[in-house]
Amino acid sequence: MVSLDIVKESNARLRELGPGLVALFVGGTSGIGEATAKAFVHHAVSPHVYLVGRSASAAERIIQECKALNNDGRVEFLQADVSELGEVDRVCKEITSKEKHINLIVQSQGNLTLAGRIENSNGLDRKMTLNYYSRMRFITNLLPLLKSATMAPPYLSRSQSILSGGTEKSGFDKDDIELKESYTGSKCANQTIVMNTFMTGEYASRNPATTFVHSFPGVVKTPLARELPLWARMGITAMWPVISLFAVPVDEVGERQLYIATSGVFAPAQKPKASSSSGVPPVGGQEIAKGLDGNSGSGAYIVNWNDDIAGNQKLFANYRKSGMGKTAWDHTMEVFQRLPPTDQKP
Ligand SMILES: NC(=O)c1ccc[n+]([C@@H]2O[C@H](COP(=O)([O-])OP(=O)(O)OC[C@H]3O[C@@H](n4cnc5c(N)ncnc54)[C@H](OP(=O)(O)O)[C@@H]3O)[C@@H](O)[C@H]2O)c1
Repeated sequence: MVSLDIVKESNARLRELGPGLVALFVGGTSGIGEATAKAFVHHAVSPHVYLVGRSASAAERIIQECKALNNDGRVEFLQADVSELGEVDRVCKEITSKEKHINLIVQSQGNLTLAGRIENSNGLDRKMTLNYYSRMRFITNLLPLLKSATMAPPYLSRSQSILSGGTEKSGFDKDDIELKESYTGSKCANQTIVMNTFMTGEYASRNPATTFVHSFPGVVKTPLARELPLWARMGITAMWPVISLFAVPVDEVGERQLYIATSGVFAPAQKPKASSSSGVPPVGGQEIAKGLDGNSGSGAYIVNWNDDIAGNQKLFANYRKSGMGKTAWDHTMEVFQRLPPTDQKP
């Protein structure tokens, strides 16, 4: 476990990276994304932040709270329902028209439902799109801006998907990846968690100057359960005194996820030419972390709530042997070719 003191020391040094870091928080209008965005605004010098979500009133509140944290920060809200890929494309187009580079993409869009498979206008399940397809689409669309960030000081270029890195299980369904025939809530979770994990490796090997992370935030008290039926929400409320014994306070989660997003411990595979570190140089004697492939500093990291490297290495090795990275990559690119951004349709 990385101590909270080290996490806070590292985050406090974010200001040493200088002014004008640009960060996108998809799912930044509530819970873990909101806490991470606020920690970023608090610690960065004159940051420029984009918040993406549906709730304009939540965004307005957060923008005011961010002003109190750092008057020099600029926080913009881009309203979108990102369970639709067309909406992801629209937001990316707007960001690309305004920014030359982007230092951080932090994604935590998601919900908790018992509703089963509900298709969006592209024929993809909405929950799978929130957990997975929208996240990969943001990364793919914004790769040129992440790449620009690798070429100029402070060389911070990172993509972080906050879902459940390290909780992968066996049984990934390669025959029905989109779960058109065999949808269940637990299958939806495992398909999207496994693909998030293995896509970190695929993106990192193709973009070695950028770091890719899939993290698990721990159990956190947020409004995540708001779409569950009343009986389920009452059940969670009744069990909360027990659950809360294991819960991570939301402010701590914000600091810990920001550490993952900015610490040089999670180094890209390729060091910046003109700098010893990408991100805040490791503090407190922390070593460069082990990547998904088991090698130190490989640029793709699966990180637990306590900022340790997570996951079952034997399971990862079995998945690797079965070609999981290629399966996830080929499937995702096939979906994106089938559903190109409207301005790229033939
Ligand atoms: N909380 C936990 O204990 C826990 C544990 C493990 C994993 N996670 C994962 O962590 C992530 C964040 O969870 P959280 O607890 O922070 O939940 P949360 O407080 O409910 O936040 C979810 C965020 O996703 C956004 N969102 C949901 N549907 C959207 C849509 N259709 N279009 C655009 N944005 C949408 C919400 O914004 P709007 O409402 O403004 O649309 C909100 O900003 C989720 O993926 C969750 O599965 C959470």
